[in-house]
Amino acid sequence: MENMMCNPGRLVLSNVEQRAGLNSPKISVPKGGLKHLNILAQRRSRQVLVQCAHQSASQTRERNTPSKIVATRRDLLVSGATLSFVSSNKLQAEAASVSDEEAVREAIDAAFKQTLPPQKAPSVLRLVFHDAGTYDEASKTGGLNASVRFEFDRPENFGLKRGFGPITKAHDLLKNSVAKDISFSDLIACGGAYAVRMTGGPSITVPLGRLDADKADPEGRLPAETLSPSELKAHFAKGGFSAQDLVVLSGAHTVGGKGFGEPLSFDNTYFKTLLERPWNAGGSKMDVEMAQMIGLPSDKALPDDEECYSWIELYAHDQDRFFKDFESAYLKLADTGATYA
Ligand code: HEM
Repeated sequence: MENMMCNPGRLVLSNVEQRAGLNSPKISVPKGGLKHLNILAQRRSRQVLVQCAHQSASQTRERNTPSKIVATRRDLLVSGATLSFVSSNKLQAEAASVSDEEAVREAIDAAFKQTLPPQKAPSVLRLVFHDAGTYDEASKTGGLNASVRFEFDRPENFGLKRGFGPITKAHDLLKNSVAKDISFSDLIACGGAYAVRMTGGPSITVPLGRLDADKADPEGRLPAETLSPSELKAHFAKGGFSAQDLVVLSGAHTVGGKGFGEPLSFDNTYFKTLLERPWNAGGSKMDVEMAQMIGLPSDKALPDDEECYSWIELYAHDQDRFFKDFESAYLKLADTGATYA
């Protein structure tokens, strides 16, 4: 039998076959014949395709290591002819939809490059919290649905319209592009992720397909900055967020003007500052006043809570861990109450 590993086109078939649990590096038709192989291949390559959608184009291509085979998006697209041999046009359609999604993401990034300058990154990131933060688990209403665009006159959203500017401008720019159908809520979720990345934070790929609300969500659902740590924990818990999520997401305050290091640098200075508690320092009246302007009451309160303190300590010493946990919590936030097409 022909050795499939030598033929790049057929290599994908071999990958699919291996991912389908058929360990031979050569094609072996499983029990049930080609039809069965098609089903396995389709099922497995759908997983490959989904994984590929989340891989950056620069990720390593490993071709000749049967024990650790990674088929890249390009492998799958380039070898459409071979795929159709194993399965059907459906696979090609799926491959095309992956390339479509990649094109949509590239168009969104290109739009934000034009509409989202670094100075607006903090407001755009805050917008995500204020849109998603209206979610109510009991009534399953609110959440990340772009209803925030009808809520700018609320006191908690004061100044937030500034963060919506780059979103509407990107929406307009994308009107005649491959991303013409993108929703405002997808752009809010992607805008926040773009803001994090552009200020030096982790690169976060949010799922797409959110539907927009056509009216405002109910009022009074965002936490007041005067809440105690236990009230904040209880508030976040109602939306399915742990104390850890509360701490790691509050780390977003590292950007913006609350005195946690460089205003446009997404790093772990927030946690380092919380450990130092500069607002308790003595000195001249002016020093004391200046130090007290650092952080919101909710930020200053977090280190007083034992559970929160242990997360603060961890993130103050391990920025990579902060980035990793922020990514997970951000994905959760960007999914809060979202409905998908
Ligand atoms: C824990 C509950 C939270 C409270 C009470 C709170 C409250 C606030 C307030 C009052 C401000 C305005 C500060 C000022 O400039 O005077 C602010 C800023 C900000 N918040 Fe929060 N926030 C919370 C959680 C979050 C979360 C979860 C995120 C995002 C993941 C976030 C992102 C931001 C950002 C980026 C800013 C800076 C905005 C700018 O400078 O334009 N906040 N927050």
